[in-house]
Order: sequence, then structure tokens, then C-alpha cells
Amino acid sequence: MRSEHRVTSVRSQERGTAASATAVAHPNIALIKYWGKHDERLVIPRTDSLSLTLDIFPTTTRVQLAPEAQHDAVTLDGVPLRGEAQRRVIAFLELVRERAGSLQRAVVDTENTVPTGAGLASSASGFAALAVAASAAYGLDLDATALSRLARRGSGSASRSVFGGFALWHAGSATATAAEADLGSYAEPVPVGDIDPALVIAVVNAGPKSVSSREAMRRTVDTSPLYEAWAVSSKDDLNEMRAALHRVDLDAVGEIAERNALGMHATMLAARPAVRYFAPATLTVLDRVQQLRREGTPAYATMDAGPNVKVLCHRQDAGRVAEAVRGAVPDGTVLIAGPGPAARLLHEDGP
Ligand code: PMV
Repeated sequence: MRSEHRVTSVRSQERGTAASATAVAHPNIALIKYWGKHDERLVIPRTDSLSLTLDIFPTTTRVQLAPEAQHDAVTLDGVPLRGEAQRRVIAFLELVRERAGSLQRAVVDTENTVPTGAGLASSASGFAALAVAASAAYGLDLDATALSRLARRGSGSASRSVFGGFALWHAGSATATAAEADLGSYAEPVPVGDIDPALVIAVVNAGPKSVSSREAMRRTVDTSPLYEAWAVSSKDDLNEMRAALHRVDLDAVGEIAERNALGMHATMLAARPAVRYFAPATLTVLDRVQQLRREGTPAYATMDAGPNVKVLCHRQDAGRVAEAVRGAVPDGTVLIAGPGPAARLLHEDGP
């Protein structure tokens, strides 16, 4: 498996500031989940998490400084962003400006290749691409670790999309000062040997989620009697998964991923009021995955803050797994993804 772990940054401008910069990043799927924050403002999670960056659905973001403008202008697929989505991007730009000592507004244009509403985490690729493009445009010379910390502030899972392949996000210390907590919470690549995974993605419902992951996490941490137990067992899951990756045991990786995800959903079901992302079709796919295993094909499910199911399997089995899953969701969309690359700068233009 090949993955790029460095974010390419070539800067030649005298002032160190580019008039514009364009970056690309891919979504990631967590195999050990991030669920629950210690600090909402800094986005410090309660547990470590581990993910696989995908090779499909890149997000491309261009940040162009606009010295004359009074406001930031943000579009997604050519349409101006409004409301909470717009607020999050502008808050992120404020963070970059504060660090760069700049007051200049920006024009931010993002193109998502995820089919609209496909239910794949576009905030991870979105904020990873924005972190790379905005930091270059504003002249911050950040290494991949610093970019991961920065991307985290936009969306926790974005910290992992800075890297290709498998990535581990260290939660950092809850008892530290704000500055120390920020420094300690970043992702890094997990080197693995000759492993050839695929994720078969079953989009069972492309509609917007009923409860945002932010709200669902908060409610789970505050009210679910199962949360602490999952957080404790997730530590063991992570250690076991690292060992399984080290010995290139994809079946063990899958087993651990499935139990970690089901445990996360159990914490939500026990929240008050309950958060339930499963749809009937979600269970149909989970049944089909169990059936595949009974028939001798290793396949393991994971689900995020939505009804869609991602099935981890060996690359050579991906076609068969996709066929089986397609049969379970005739109205859904089924896609096959492999390990994808790190976020990177495509180009920057001088002032
Ligand atoms: O980064 P957020 O705030 O979109 O949260 C992502 C949460 C999960 O997708 C459910 C789990 C994960 O680790 O990606």
C-alpha cells in the first residue's frame, strides 16, 4: 500500500504570502471511532481514533485573498454557503488569520466530488483541504502535524484526512492547559506492511442526518450511562487494532472495527433522548455482512453518524462483497474504495 505522508508545500513568494492556493484532500472512515469531546472549542476528543483515508471523492478547495473585500465569500460547488456551514468556514478562516497576523478577507471555493448528500463525511476532506489551502494562502508554513492540529479545529475527523492510508489521531491530555491540549491532539500516519484493504460503501439513505454528529456526541457524553464503558473499551480496541495492523491481520482489524462501531452506536441508543442513526436498510446490510462471513468471505461493517454502512474486506473480495451488499439495498448506491493519499497543495499563485 502506498500513501503520501507529507503535505507538499512549495513557497517562493518573497513575502511568504500567496495570493491564492488550491489544495485537495480525501475523506476518511474511522475504524476506531472518535465519539465525544473534552473541549468543544478546541475540539479535543475523549479518545484516540484510527482511520483509513479513501481514494474516492476528493474535495478541492481554492482560497484567494481579497484585500479589498469587507467579508469572506464562501461557495460550495458554485453555490454560496449560508447558515451554520458558512459560519464554520469563516470561524476557521479567523483562526488562520489570527495566526498569520492578517486582516485580509478571502474568497473560498470548494468543489466536492461526493454525489450530493451521499452521506460520506465531506467535513473531513473539506476542512483538511481548507487547512492546507488557507494556511498556504495566508503564508503560514506548517508541517503535516501542525496542519492536522489546524484541520482538527474545523472538524475533528479532518485531522486524520491530512494523512493518507491509516492514520491515528492522538486525543491529547484532558488535564493539560489549552495550549498543551492543542499541541497534544493531532493525527499521524500508521505505517503498515503489505495490507490490501477495500471499503465497500453502501449508501442506503442519502438524506441529511436527523441529528448532527456534534449534537449527538454532546448528548451521548452528557446522558448515556454506556458512554464511559465504551470509552474505556475503545482504548483496548485501539491497542489491539494497532497490533493487528502491525502483523497485517486484516480480519482482526475488521472484527475490532465492527465491535468498536457497534459499541459507539450502543452508547447513542442509551442517550436520553436516544440518538438512532440506523435505518431498516442498515440492518439488512448488517445481516448480509454476517451472511458473507458465514459463507467464508471475511467482511466487517462500520457505521458513522448516519444510516450508511461501510464494509471492510480484502481487496480481492471487494467485487463479491459489493454484489452481496447491492442485493441487500436495491434502491441504494454501492461503491468500492481503497486507501487514498494525503492532503496536498496543488498550486499557489504569488501576489
Ligand atoms: O468530525 P466530525 O465532527 O464530523 O465527527 C465524526 C464522527 C464519526 O464520523 C461518527 C466518527 C469518526 O471518527 O469519524
